[in-house]
Amino acid sequence: MRKRIVFLPGDGVGEEVSRGAMKVLRHVAEEYELEIESREFAIGGACLDKHGIPVQEETIAACKNADAVFLGAVGGPEWDKNPAELRPEIALLRLRKELALFTNLRPVKVFSPLAGASSLKPEYVQGVDLLVVRELTGGIYFGQPKFTESIDNGERAVDTMAYSTPEIERIARVAFEAAMKRRKKVTSVDKANILVTSRLWRKTVTRIAEDYPHVELEHLLVDNCAMQLVKNPRQFDVILTGNMFGDVLSDEASMLTGSLGMLPSASLGTGVGLYEPVHGSAPDIAGKNIANPLAAIASVALMFHYSFNMENAAQTIEKAIEKVLKVGFRTADLTMNGHESVSTSEMTDEVIRKIDAQKNDSAAQNLSAGNGKVYWLLETMSLETS
Ligand code: IPM
Ligand code: MG
Repeated sequence: MRKRIVFLPGDGVGEEVSRGAMKVLRHVAEEYELEIESREFAIGGACLDKHGIPVQEETIAACKNADAVFLGAVGGPEWDKNPAELRPEIALLRLRKELALFTNLRPVKVFSPLAGASSLKPEYVQGVDLLVVRELTGGIYFGQPKFTESIDNGERAVDTMAYSTPEIERIARVAFEAAMKRRKKVTSVDKANILVTSRLWRKTVTRIAEDYPHVELEHLLVDNCAMQLVKNPRQFDVILTGNMFGDVLSDEASMLTGSLGMLPSASLGTGVGLYEPVHGSAPDIAGKNIANPLAAIASVALMFHYSFNMENAAQTIEKAIEKVLKVGFRTADLTMNGHESVSTSEMTDEVIRKIDAQKNDSAAQNLSAGNGKVYWLLETMSLETS
């Protein structure tokens, strides 16, 4: 079997963690006799520097033709003053839109050896295992009109938040399907006391819930959800929310795990999937080989699962991540008192070592039967909804 991968390292630590992720990808692919054909393109700030635009048409075309896309991170202070259409982030938004990636899955799972690394007390975060299902191609990120105009005493800027019934229906179905394979609870998050988009969101989600009688549905206002995430995070199973609220809540939820450097993501639609760590380009630590590559590596596991339907390969990676943490390897973001830290490349190599160790470890076979799963992973499911 052969898979075409478009590799977009991007900016800052995106570049470093992507190299690690690709190394793991190639290693596991070889083990499972999967041939990888990869093409690399500059994106975001790197593309602005090279070509004067955040993303080239050729890159978008290559992504559309690929079996999967891996992206590191985009953005950085060098490009912060650029006009709106020349910001690095535009590249990511265009890819999401052009590839119709309306679903963004962000699993937040606390690994027990890391419970002490969270800024919250371990007894609150131990056992947290939730999934943020974020709508990714609508809402205030994409609504029109969107502009800045001059007025007498300065400027005036407008963003528009818009959602339609079909957009809400399809992402709601993803969340309910996901919940069916987890603990059967969906928390839909909105601001229905203020926003009309949220009232439509709530009405639509409530209607879709009728098709899933075994799933408990609860609605939470976004401010309350932000509070509940730090007060009692174990109450959550699937959090279903729109683009903007999902952006904010997923960063907040990541801190339950000890570091934003632990969160992988999968962006899915009806075609190619895009995999990226949730963290950004972290310009303050870029180029130092100290960034945590685990979110990027875990994103590769999600790629094996969702895009290649290779569950064993996905679990091999997830088990390896769990093992390196268990034996005590920590990147700087995860170090607790007295712990030494390892570099990005050392952490990557440790994961590879653990992958190799599993090869000869017959016990690993049993883990792939289910109970050793690190992340909850969707079974193959059709995202094609009308
Ligand atoms: C994310 C990021 C992006 C977003 C940025 C880089 C455009 O924060 O994926 O969460 O806001 O969606
Ligand atoms: Mg974000």
